[in-house]
Amino acid sequence: MASREAPPSPFKPDVLSGRVALVTGGGSGIGLEIVRQLGLHGAHVVISGRREAVLAEAVAALGAEGITAHYVQGDVRRYEDCERTVEGAVARFGRLDILVNCAAGNFLSPAEQLSSNGFRTVLEIDTLGTFNMCRAAFAPLKAAGAGAAGPAGTGPGALIINISMTLHYGATWWQAHASAAKAAVDSLTRSLGLEWGLYGIRTAGVAPGPIEGTAGMTKLAPGSDAAAAVTEMVNTSIPLGHMGRRWDIAQACVFLASPAAAFVTGHTLVVDGAEWLCKQPL
Ligand code: HXC
Repeated sequence: MASREAPPSPFKPDVLSGRVALVTGGGSGIGLEIVRQLGLHGAHVVISGRREAVLAEAVAALGAEGITAHYVQGDVRRYEDCERTVEGAVARFGRLDILVNCAAGNFLSPAEQLSSNGFRTVLEIDTLGTFNMCRAAFAPLKAAGAGAAGPAGTGPGALIINISMTLHYGATWWQAHASAAKAAVDSLTRSLGLEWGLYGIRTAGVAPGPIEGTAGMTKLAPGSDAAAAVTEMVNTSIPLGHMGRRWDIAQACVFLASPAAAFVTGHTLVVDGAEWLCKQPL
């Protein structure tokens, strides 16, 4: 299935100028496109992930596009890694305005075959990892959010974006672990939207549907007949008639980071072509 070309961005190229963004899982896939779009709109960007070679390659590619990028290797499951990542970002660029929690782990498994460690691993990466990063980034985000809350508050303030899913809106076959993990992430998005709004920190989620060319799609449709399986899914389950692009998710993040979303917090934005609403094959 041919990929659809991304159109020019509707946002001004300097809309995020002067802002510093940190994206976990930013070395590849959807995370890398989020980093790229934040960078192309003026932000300085820091990426983190477990694989140093992947991070180094991503920073080089971003640099070739004129984006000032930096990486810190780490595992979001370890709080000390999260602290080191945030410290590295602030040491490099002097501040932190935007945290995007994109690091995730997943695999298909029937619930009765899933080990406790398998369940725990996905919750630790997705849920605990998101909380760890939010906690580690709180002080610099609070500093960046100063002045955004209160009766005279101005500007978009600081921002956390949690990349979620739609799996848990109903229930999804062989995804008990990831569904539980992302339900908790969405709850955290609301809790921090409530509590940290006081500090001028907005918290939002983005829930992608099927996105072409991602690890998630490869895992969902493994094997030699993957392309046919994906085409069948698109034809029967996405009302808009096509899969999403990484660009679509990244542009949602640019919107949330822009002044246009200054009053949006605690909400998870679904970017899925209405896939999760489609209960019967089209
Ligand atoms: C059943 C599995 C399994 C599988 C791992 N486990 N893969 N169980 N089916 N396919 C179990 C292991 O047996 C082990 O339990 C436990 O999970 C931990 O596995 P490890 O390999 O030791 O963990 P780790 O090396 O930390 O790897 C984490 C991971 C891995 C989540 C398992 O896949 C990963 O790092 N993925 C990162 C990238 C990724 O998944 N991206 C997809 C996100 S996209 P025992 O009991 O044996 O010790 C996405 C979109 C939807 O989520 C995708 C739909 C599927």
